Amino acid sequence: MISVLFVCLGNICRSPMAEAVLRHQLKERELEEKVSVDSAGTGDWHLGKPPHEGTRSLLDRYGISYEGMRARQVLINDYKAFDYIICMDSANERDVRKVFGSCSEQQTKVFKFMDLLPDKPGNDVPDPYYTGNFDEVYELVSEGCGKLLERIRREHQI
Ligand code: 4NP
Repeated sequence: MISVLFVCLGNICRSPMAEAVLRHQLKERELEEKVSVDSAGTGDWHLGKPPHEGTRSLLDRYGISYEGMRARQVLINDYKAFDYIICMDSANERDVRKVFGSCSEQQTKVFKFMDLLPDKPGNDVPDPYYTGNFDEVYELVSEGCGKLLERIRREHQI
């Protein structure tokens, strides 16, 4: 099984959105048995909570399921457990590398979500917890997940 972990700060807005969108795209292509998807936060404020209301209402609007999803924090063991560890912004990447320690320094499996969209300006997926703009995040997330899926298919011949 190929595995993907999305990481943001609170694990209630951006990374759960990416988790739900990628899983939805995988289902549409009947690839959900081949790729597993999870998300986590570098912070611990929202442990056990469902996605933020803004993320939920957006996903509802697009008919994308977020059933059973609950916030959790990044764990040291995630480094070994996942093939792709994708951080929503630069601070998340820095913090995740701290959790994983020196073993993650040279590894390409930790990268930023915006690296999937090299033609887009900006390094970070804006945080709708502060901006309130969940739609702009959805635009980036849906396009980026499409690119990720292409990359996974290419790299694993699925
Ligand atoms: P997220 O957004 O990292 O996209 O889930 C945030 C959620 C909660 C907080 C910050 C960002 N917070 O400070 O509680």
